[in-house]
Amino acid sequence: MSNDGRMIGGQRRSGEQDNIALRPQYLKDIVGQDRVRNNLQIIIEAAKARNEPVDHLLFYGPPGLGKTSLAHVVANEIGAKIHITAGPSIERAGDLAAILTHMKQGDILFIDEVHRLGRAVEEILYPAMEDFKLDIVIGKGPAAKNVRLNLPRFTVIGATTRLSLLAGPLRDRFGARFRMDFYDQEAMEHIITRAAGMLNVQIKPQGTSEIARRSRGTPRVALRLLRRVRDYAQTRAEGIITGAVAGEALELMEIDHLGLDQTDRLILKTIIEKFDGGPVGLDTIAAAIAEDSATIMDVYEPYLLQLGFIDRTPRGRIATRHAYEHLGYSYDEQSNPNQPGLF
Ligand SMILES: Nc1ncnc2c1ncn2[C@@H]1O[C@H](COP(=O)(O)OP(=O)(O)O)[C@@H](O)[C@H]1O
Ligand SMILES: [Mg+2]
Repeated sequence: MSNDGRMIGGQRRSGEQDNIALRPQYLKDIVGQDRVRNNLQIIIEAAKARNEPVDHLLFYGPPGLGKTSLAHVVANEIGAKIHITAGPSIERAGDLAAILTHMKQGDILFIDEVHRLGRAVEEILYPAMEDFKLDIVIGKGPAAKNVRLNLPRFTVIGATTRLSLLAGPLRDRFGARFRMDFYDQEAMEHIITRAAGMLNVQIKPQGTSEIARRSRGTPRVALRLLRRVRDYAQTRAEGIITGAVAGEALELMEIDHLGLDQTDRLILKTIIEKFDGGPVGLDTIAAAIAEDSATIMDVYEPYLLQLGFIDRTPRGRIATRHAYEHLGYSYDEQSNPNQPGLF
């Protein structure tokens, strides 16, 4: 199941309930991502006009940018039923076959972390996506028979943080692929203002821009920081989030003015202090700071790359001059011959 998606059964924590309420429902609620939104609009309108299911769609990019939200938005826009699953939870080919036989014409199958599907499961998915056929084996041993079933026309929406781990043939079966970008300051301010309104939080424009600036262009981060700042404002500042209050709260959380947290700084410091600025392999960095390398790659690295604080080279990651300066290290060109542009 997605991080903050619908949970079937069980109790929801209040944070999760907030998240569901805050999740955009229709394309008009999606702030930013203009390229993605405009293209989706066309795909949806055209499919509706032809009265056909939409093409298979793939959303990829760092966590928290709205991939899961968009899958729900597409379902809402076409009024389709959405079935939710995730790569790691479809263990055997039979699990997928069971899901597929329950699909109805026009239904959407949302597969989160689609890069984590097993090979055998992918083999079932290819013909299902391409020809709407399901190949199954009935019986065992010499009496086993291959049977090909027809499936209704349905839509697969995949989401992944790692396009590069997706098998080529699977990638090719998505008719439209969308890369999600970090949001700009204006879009972030919109998202925070909307969320504050829905959460009944009093916030001043400076408070909004302060949180937006430190949210690394990521709506999920913005919503999390907003809640933490709300707590701070409630207990220390009469409940109103001014610029100063937001600044103090974020300072207390050790989130700097670019939105870097302790782990981001630790990654940079490690490259600079332990490995002379790099190049150093990702796994080596991960081991040095006792963090999971997939987490560094998915969660931390994209924003550090975007800021231009690290660079990827064939021999590993390097910390750039900007990283040195941001952390207050002196930068010596002589001892950093690996920097791009100096060759
Ligand atoms: N474009 C957007 N406009 C408004 N809120 C958004 C937008 N994108 C994401 N969010 C909010 O950010 C949170 C994380 O989005 P989500 O779709 O779960 O990201 P992902 O699946 O890419 O990790 C959601 O709770 C949603 O409310
Ligand atoms: Mg998601």
